[in-house]
Amino acid sequence: MRVATDYALGAFMTFELSKEKPIHGWFWYKEGYAPELVDWALKTELETGNRRPESVLDPFCGVGTTLLAAKDKGIASAGVDASTLAAFVSKAKTEDYEKSDLESALAFLNRKLDYRSAEKLDWQFELFSTKAAFPKRNHTEILALREAIENEDGRCRNLLLLALLSVLPQASVILKDGGVLKIDKRKRALPAREIFRRKVKRMCRELEGRPQGHVPRVFLGDARALDIGGEEVDAVITSPPYLNNIDYSKIYGLELSLLAMSKAEAEEVRMRAIRSFIRTGNPGQETEMPPEVGEIGLRIPIVGTYFKDMEASIAEMFRVLRPGGAAYVNVSNSVIHETHVIVDEIFAQMAERIGFAETEIVVGAERIADVRPQKVKTRESVVIMRK
Ligand SMILES: C[S@@+](CC[C@H](N)C(=O)[O-])C[C@H]1O[C@@H](n2cnc3c(N)ncnc32)[C@H](O)[C@@H]1O
Repeated sequence: MRVATDYALGAFMTFELSKEKPIHGWFWYKEGYAPELVDWALKTELETGNRRPESVLDPFCGVGTTLLAAKDKGIASAGVDASTLAAFVSKAKTEDYEKSDLESALAFLNRKLDYRSAEKLDWQFELFSTKAAFPKRNHTEILALREAIENEDGRCRNLLLLALLSVLPQASVILKDGGVLKIDKRKRALPAREIFRRKVKRMCRELEGRPQGHVPRVFLGDARALDIGGEEVDAVITSPPYLNNIDYSKIYGLELSLLAMSKAEAEEVRMRAIRSFIRTGNPGQETEMPPEVGEIGLRIPIVGTYFKDMEASIAEMFRVLRPGGAAYVNVSNSVIHETHVIVDEIFAQMAERIGFAETEIVVGAERIADVRPQKVKTRESVVIMRK
């Protein structure tokens, strides 16, 4: 295992740069990264004398940053995510749209909405009443839009639905605060229909005249058991959930419940997800942990379950990569229960045991964390695993 540093990468490991970019910025996903990280991985493949990847996989594709970056470079790709919401957003962002889809989406903005019928729709969210999350008018407008969008055809429907889901935070009185959602009645909620209208116009503008390309295959699934044949992939470029106790099915629960129009969907996403957070009623103590984890896994059960799941997904990356291909995995070291967990090294060690011929850790950012009684330097890095 080699360790190198490249601090230029640090800025690519957050969603900040994506936020401002056409299409990438359509849906704010705090846990996402920037397309520059994908460009860097592809460039590194070439510089190390490997052939230019012709197929890329992201087994934790989130909102499709890897897939869209690959499409922009004319590379075929596939993405998998456990979240119905993430898989939907990835698909809608990477679709090839026809001029007629954009015309239909813009025409939809003048449609008369049926507010009375919308009020009868049953929109349930598991944490609190959706009525408490929005001013009354916004709640009605959102449901009326949701109902009308369902009558549109495939690609146009997806574009409109993504626009609606993406404006929910601004239309609500919810604050996404770290790993929790809070109702804050002092927050100013913006008018739902108006911000939806602006969003659809922006999306259509960004799609206008865009060349068509390889439309990625996007699956709702589990990175621990991929539905992809062996040795089919040239490169994996991805970032799995961090060991930070964040439950995506809760943080994006409102958007997920509006997409699925089902309260039960969140639990299904949770059951597929990597165990990087504590579930009620299912602490999931692992008895057979990867040997690299050591005593921390016994002392802090979530650490054991996290690496057990990550071991299964690294094994899947190994299986689907062609010989000589590489996985670029963006991870972060964690401080959990005042214990510093050196995630990148454990990933590299597990990868070597699983059979990867070489590994390298490229550190992109460092932070100081307070691990009483001392302070420690934690870091975010990309673990490169070459088969
Ligand atoms: C750090 S985010 C990836 C963000 C992505 N790089 C982007 O730019 O949007 C991790 C993703 O892993 C997904 N995930 C969690 N458990 C999973 C599993 N078992 N299989 C596939 N995806 C999973 C989460 O839903 C989340 O979208």
